[in-house]
Amino acid sequence: MKIKLSPRLEAIAGCVDGTSSMADIGTDHGYLPVYLVENAMTASAIASDTNQQPLKKAEKIISELQLEKQIETRLGSGLSVLKPGEVETVVMAGMGGLLIRDLLEAQSDVAMETQKLVLQPMNNQAVLRKYLEAAGFRIIREELAQEENRVYQVIVAKPGKMVFTNDLEYQLGFEFYTQKHPLLTALIDRKIFLEQQIVLSTRGKTTAVAAKQWQESSLFIEKLNEVKKWLSN
Ligand SMILES: C[S@@+](CC[C@H](N)C(=O)[O-])C[C@H]1O[C@@H](n2cnc3c(N)ncnc32)[C@H](O)[C@@H]1O
Repeated sequence: MKIKLSPRLEAIAGCVDGTSSMADIGTDHGYLPVYLVENAMTASAIASDTNQQPLKKAEKIISELQLEKQIETRLGSGLSVLKPGEVETVVMAGMGGLLIRDLLEAQSDVAMETQKLVLQPMNNQAVLRKYLEAAGFRIIREELAQEENRVYQVIVAKPGKMVFTNDLEYQLGFEFYTQKHPLLTALIDRKIFLEQQIVLSTRGKTTAVAAKQWQESSLFIEKLNEVKKWLSN
């Protein structure tokens, strides 16, 4: 049986391709490491999760496909399941940006010895990019994937130095920003939609917090519309 991935997981797999060893932290169903091994995109994988139940799902599919020699499972939180330098590539996908940041920070020795981090935060992408910049990582690639009305951001980073020049780059990721990624307009439209919800819910409210939120979101929408205009030129 060959695993078929969703566009989001396929984009992540494309960023891992060509590695000798990888770890999927928060693997859940284990589809990603199975797909990577089945398609010779990695020679070996570690599928890890902090919860027993998801890990059992991964173990089931690994055993059904007789991939136990290539894929090892480990129970534990974040990068604590790895020794520094043990794998070439680490994936953390489908988790919140704050959790990914905290897991990188908790085992910075492991993160710093990894040649490639493939991160797919479900939210707080800007916070994660700020953390990567401050903690001594360099973003080397960014990818986008669309599933229905959601646009997912995949960030590939390695130890190194980078400097962002403006706030929008934290939000949109400068790789696909500079390359005019074909899904960038879809990402911007989604962000505008979410910010409009904030504007609607804070409009006319008199508390200082609501007024600040309204102002920030309104300004952000303006900036996003400017980028959209620039993209269409
Ligand atoms: C929404 S699933 C994402 C599964 C898969 N990575 C994907 O992108 O489709 C999140 C998984 O992360 C696991 N998880 C949550 N906190 C974790 C942690 N601190 N360390 C490792 N795994 C964690 C959860 O148990 C769950 O299986």
